[in-house]
Amino acid sequence: MKFEISQNLLSKISSDVVLVYVFQNENEKGPFFISSSAYSQLNKALSGQLDAACQAERFKGQQGKVVSVFTQDKIVPTKVVVMGLGKKSGFVLNDLRKVTGKIVTAFRKRSDSLVIAVPEDLDESAQEACRVIVEAVDLASYEFAKYKAKKPEDRNLETVILAVSEQVAIVDIKKVVQYTQLYTEATILARDLVNEPAYIATPTYLADLAEDIAKANPSVTCKIFGKTQIEKMGMEAFLGIARAANTEPKFIYLSYTPEKVGQKNKKLALVGKGITFDSGGINVKPGDHMQDMKMDMAGAACVLGVFSVIAKIKPDFSVIGLIAATPNLVSASSILPGDVVKALNGKTIEVLNTDAEGRVTMADSLSFAVKEGATHILDFATLTGACMVALGMEIAGIFSNDRDLIEEVKLAAFAEGEKVWELPLEKDYKAQNRSEVADIANIPNNRYGGTITAALFLQEFIGNKPWVHFDIAGPAFASKSYELGPQGGTGFGVRTVLQLLERNN
Ligand code: BES
Ligand code: MG
Ligand code: ZN
Repeated sequence: MKFEISQNLLSKISSDVVLVYVFQNENEKGPFFISSSAYSQLNKALSGQLDAACQAERFKGQQGKVVSVFTQDKIVPTKVVVMGLGKKSGFVLNDLRKVTGKIVTAFRKRSDSLVIAVPEDLDESAQEACRVIVEAVDLASYEFAKYKAKKPEDRNLETVILAVSEQVAIVDIKKVVQYTQLYTEATILARDLVNEPAYIATPTYLADLAEDIAKANPSVTCKIFGKTQIEKMGMEAFLGIARAANTEPKFIYLSYTPEKVGQKNKKLALVGKGITFDSGGINVKPGDHMQDMKMDMAGAACVLGVFSVIAKIKPDFSVIGLIAATPNLVSASSILPGDVVKALNGKTIEVLNTDAEGRVTMADSLSFAVKEGATHILDFATLTGACMVALGMEIAGIFSNDRDLIEEVKLAAFAEGEKVWELPLEKDYKAQNRSEVADIANIPNNRYGGTITAALFLQEFIGNKPWVHFDIAGPAFASKSYELGPQGGTGFGVRTVLQLLERNN
């Protein structure tokens, strides 16, 4: 989206729609909602027409409720929309993100331009408000229409004007817009990768993209390992899952080195599950469980999204990105239940269920992270249906062996409105992953707490480095459209990681 910044009177800015926000009044007495300066200004210019409309519709400023008024040439903008923010107590910035996304979704096919009166009555600064507004606008405008034959609608939101008061420095807002658009650009890349059908978004496709990212950024390099090299390195676990694949598996190794090194010894590894399609393998999934499984590389998409902008975010420490990319397919050469494979760190895995393939491939990518000297590890994986049973579709399960790191993650995720909830790495459950013939089995011996036992499996491969595991099976893919985007890939995790990088700088 093209953003402009204006300090003009709202009644004088030319646009199809001007959006103003108001809080609900929490006092018993007085008006239903608290009129903001933007509201009063427009109401006055419209000779009280806004008040009249709000009254007629019994508008109380409830969160997400709107009243709109045609201005009939009394002022420059064609339409005024008043959006309720709800009660101020309990309001969080993500609420502004959500209601803005809702408005953009409603108007983006009906208007070319939108003025947003940046709210001044928040506890947060205008910059922070602009950050969530920009995110909401860009993300809610996202669509994945390349495979639709129908031509796009004739009107398309092209310009959003952020109206700020004269006290606010325009240069600061410009910076916020520019920076925030890196977040949305990276998120959109991740969404595209998830939405792309599996026969397009193959391991080679992901590897080519990683190489393009490295080519475009001097501070990023990329190494791609093909089948023979993966074999030579000793990633038997990854190769086992890749055995049935119709496409060559790729191990993707991205590396960012800061120009100005601040934190000399720090090396953060971002590891993404890269199953480009999960049929379940020989333990084939039933059809309705398989239909969205092109999304099983959402962790990889998150890592690629982050790397696509990392050179512009400029963390002052090293970051590596690791993806073991392959589909999990069915063929005569498929890995079989009962097969034993040895991971890069020397541990042997008995594969008792080929549908628990993510953890097997990640055993190798996590071992690789440790071998490469990672000092901190974050991994992103659409790992278990059990996590969705536990936390639902919108919340990622997070697990960690390090208090400080996970608290930082929680703050970053909260700032971005990405929902996470910590689950325990309960060591008494480790026994459930025991194998009679190998060091560990890839499925637990009972079906309860499956997201925890999966996390405990991964823990065997992180060499006690400070680590946070994100089980993103729920939030990586939206089953229907929501405030910030359509059905499909959400780009979950990208903004949390970028926020974390920014905070650690
Ligand atoms: N890719 C799935 C997990 C998944 C399920 C992600 C639904 C998104 C939506 C994973 O590979 C898988 O199949 N896990 C199994 C593990 C089980 C066999 C122990 C599961 O969750 O059922
Ligand atoms: Mg480069
Ligand atoms: Zn699976």
